[in-house]
Amino acid sequence: MSADPASPGVLIGGAGPSGLVLALTLLTNGIPVRIIDKARDFPLVQRGSGIQPRTLELFHYLGTLSDMQAIYRPLLPVVEYKPGQVEPVKTSYMMEPVEPTPDVPYPNPILLGQGYTQQILRAHLEKLGGAIETETELRHFGQTADGVTVTLVKQRNGEEVIETASFRWLVGTDGGKSGVRKQLGLSFEGQALKEHSIHGELYVEGLDADHWHRWLDWQNPTIVTVVLCPTEVKGQFFFLTGGHVNYSELVEDQEKLLQAMRDFIKRDDIKLSNIRHAVEYRPQARIVEKYNLAVLMPAGFYKMPHTCTARREDRHGLNTSVQDAFNLGWKLALVEKGLAAPSLLSTYSEERLPVAKRMIQETLGIYKVVMDSALQGANASKARGAHIKQLGVNYRWSPIVLDERNPVDKQQTVDALDVYGKLGGDGVPRAGDRAPDAPGLVEVKQGSGATRLFDIFGPTHHCVLIFCADASTARPVLEAVQTLPPKTVTSVVIYPQTASRKPPVAYADLVLADFEGHAFKVYGCPADSTTIVITRPDGVIGGTVFGDEGVKKYFKGIFSTV
Ligand SMILES: Cc1cc2nc3c(=O)[nH]c(=O)nc-3n(C[C@H](O)[C@H](O)[C@H](O)COP(=O)(O)OP(=O)(O)OC[C@H]3O[C@@H](n4cnc5c(N)ncnc54)[C@H](O)[C@@H]3O)c2cc1C
Ligand SMILES: *[C@@H]1O[C@H](CO)[C@@H](O)[C@H](O)[C@H]1NC(C)=O
Ligand SMILES: *[C@@H]1O[C@H](CO)[C@@H](O)[C@H](O)[C@H]1NC(C)=O
Ligand SMILES: *[C@@H]1O[C@H](CO)[C@@H](O)[C@H](O)[C@H]1NC(C)=O
Repeated sequence: MSADPASPGVLIGGAGPSGLVLALTLLTNGIPVRIIDKARDFPLVQRGSGIQPRTLELFHYLGTLSDMQAIYRPLLPVVEYKPGQVEPVKTSYMMEPVEPTPDVPYPNPILLGQGYTQQILRAHLEKLGGAIETETELRHFGQTADGVTVTLVKQRNGEEVIETASFRWLVGTDGGKSGVRKQLGLSFEGQALKEHSIHGELYVEGLDADHWHRWLDWQNPTIVTVVLCPTEVKGQFFFLTGGHVNYSELVEDQEKLLQAMRDFIKRDDIKLSNIRHAVEYRPQARIVEKYNLAVLMPAGFYKMPHTCTARREDRHGLNTSVQDAFNLGWKLALVEKGLAAPSLLSTYSEERLPVAKRMIQETLGIYKVVMDSALQGANASKARGAHIKQLGVNYRWSPIVLDERNPVDKQQTVDALDVYGKLGGDGVPRAGDRAPDAPGLVEVKQGSGATRLFDIFGPTHHCVLIFCADASTARPVLEAVQTLPPKTVTSVVIYPQTASRKPPVAYADLVLADFEGHAFKVYGCPADSTTIVITRPDGVIGGTVFGDEGVKKYFKGIFSTV
């Protein structure tokens, strides 16, 4: 297979968060892509604005996190009022902020409007030479023996221009209303929730920008809630409202909508004006039932439930679809490079579908608890376990992970698996788990300048971390790594904090000393024996093994060329 930039083998249909993350992952791997979107432009609307820690880590690997950090805001506490009263009823966090730890450097969800997230991803795409073809709609596609033929319809000067083109891969990242999914006849499982709301953005005077503000009155005959959340732009707030109202009428008549919200909150000291946009949102909790085909891979078909009790944080749409795209990206890159068999791609669905299914159960579960507690005035933050941060999401059952340290029974039914890592466990990471960070690693050769694992991991390569006291045990492992395709695996020898001698080792890409002792500790490796941890390009532990045989066995499951 060739990687000819003039004729990309991959078409990405839809430039939302999933399409952009997939495009960035592929371009970073040197795989040219075409990415299209039927939209003319991408307004800076909020949509989902909460981003979970696991998603932040992925943005770190893609190199986009620092740009996001420049503008994102922390999750703000929520002030709750009774209509007409200035004194708040209570102030609480939906999720209490916690301090970073060596293994979890980004422990708290943050807020960044989806429009801004996409803007930053687009800027990075352009830096890598990618460009979105806007006003270009994927209209039809058909499968051929070695790929897919598509019909693209472009709006050019008011006219439709039709293009037919062929690709090896089409990835449909075209969102909740996906035409790709429909044409493939894939079912969209789940349920449309009854709860219904209007959200958008408006201008607010007289409210501080350090909190979310929420009014609730379940007894009110019309609107029952208004939520106002500050955004990236001063004075501009995200709003959410709903109740026993005629939704389409309010969305159409913004003056009426403004007045209805004013009448509900009954606060002359707060001025609401100038609705920038307002949409009706009928929450859905759905996923595509099987999202992997040999040639066509629809990704990211999520629309998450979301409620008029203003639990904006209860939707995981972006988080999950972005993680889907990252999971698919490195695998597709290896297949396009001719280093892995197309069957590797089926593990995308095998790994992600149980996570997506569980996510929907979780969301519905949390939703119910939140609804109930809102009705009873209880503290809803209790409903939200730390697993919502998705740091425990794992693929321990995946056919391509290998755990020689704590083998699991992969025949268990998916329902029996702890997909979200809620059970906690003994603190020893398993193959299939998120690969933790560890700072304070010093290069033996230079003897100064510390690095951390998160700066060694990345979407272009696996890492073979050899935790060892004795360099001689590393040698056969490094020889095994030498036989793997070049530039796809980084070998890292890590000596314990306590090692008296830290000699350099031939063939290792990096030789580090664990000066602060974090790496051995969080990976559960004893200082007096050798443990090998293989991390994947998506920041997941692919294998924990004890020697060169284990390393070879793991990579036989990935590369077709070894
Ligand atoms: C009005 C609205 C409000 C939402 N609010 C929230 C929220 O508050 N919280 C939340 O978590 N989630 C929300 N969501 C869902 C959330 O935005 C999605 O989960 C998230 O955007 C998923 O990203 P995606 O890239 O998969 O899809 P999308 O962001 O939907 O991107 C799909 C892209 O594909 C393009 N496209 C579609 N069809 C074609 C075609 N045939 N050819 C070419 N391009 C095409 C679209 O123009 C779009 O740019 C909302 C969605 C909508 C529509
Ligand atoms: C809500 O619960 C959290 C976590 O238990 C607690 O820290 C907070 O103070 C509570 N808030 C209120 C208003 O009870
Ligand atoms: C809601 O308002 C629209 C006009 O915007 C009207 O056509 C429709 O009949 C109303 N629906 C109900 C149930 O009153
Ligand atoms: C991401 O997940 C968080 C927590 O569940 C949620 O608050 C947020 O709305 C989700 N964001 C998107 C865009 O789906």
